[in-house]
Amino acid sequence: MEKGQKLYEGKAKILYATADPDLVIQYFKDDATAFNAKKKGTVDQKGVINNKISTKIFEFLKSQGIPTHFEKHLSDREMLVKRVEIVAVEVIIRNRAAGSLCRLLGIEEGRKMVSPILEFCYKRDDLGDPLINEDHIYALELATREEIEDIKKYTLKINELMSKFFAKLNLELIDFKLEFGRYKGKIILADEISPDTCRLWEIGTGKKLDKDRFRHDLGNIEEAYNEVLSRVSQ
Ligand code: TMP
Repeated sequence: MEKGQKLYEGKAKILYATADPDLVIQYFKDDATAFNAKKKGTVDQKGVINNKISTKIFEFLKSQGIPTHFEKHLSDREMLVKRVEIVAVEVIIRNRAAGSLCRLLGIEEGRKMVSPILEFCYKRDDLGDPLINEDHIYALELATREEIEDIKKYTLKINELMSKFFAKLNLELIDFKLEFGRYKGKIILADEISPDTCRLWEIGTGKKLDKDRFRHDLGNIEEAYNEVLSRVSQ
């Protein structure tokens, strides 16, 4: 599949057109940002590793009946995906407290949530992706009530599926972020799922195998991402 015109460049990925108007190429970069791009860097091979990890997870979710944009892994840094209109809402699920939830509520990292917390953030880099609720979504017409019902249903199901998937690999899924898109009138899962967008702790040791190694300068970032890749490739 030939890369056409560049359609969009984000912090970690680029989208290119293809000859088919319904399909685009998602290209994974090595660039990493944190804290709304206040911290910037690159992680050698991250794009290649995240493309492979994302492929494995999307293949798994697809096999479990979740509708997704994933079509196929094309090359080291390229994945073929359906062309969607991204819903301007990021969806976060938290099984244990970490990151911004600890800052928001003054609770300790690692506290187990009695039930998973589902959060919405407005996808607006210029505002720092603020936390919003469903009323904000409907008032700003970011998505319809039917779309949000589908998004919540898929997100809770994905949390169940991925928590079990990672537990078998001795990894605990602490939290993650999803993005959804509209495709031919339906909501489907889009974007990527990788250690950039999930927190994964090794069961037993609590070792962090995700982007917190970059956010908090913990070192061995590439090794941690490779460790996740080798487990999901088992
Ligand atoms: P947070 O604790 O920083 O809000 O992050 C929650 C989860 O969402 C964590 O797994 C990282 C992921 N995430 C993204 O994928 N992109 C983002 O821009 C942010 C803020 C978080």
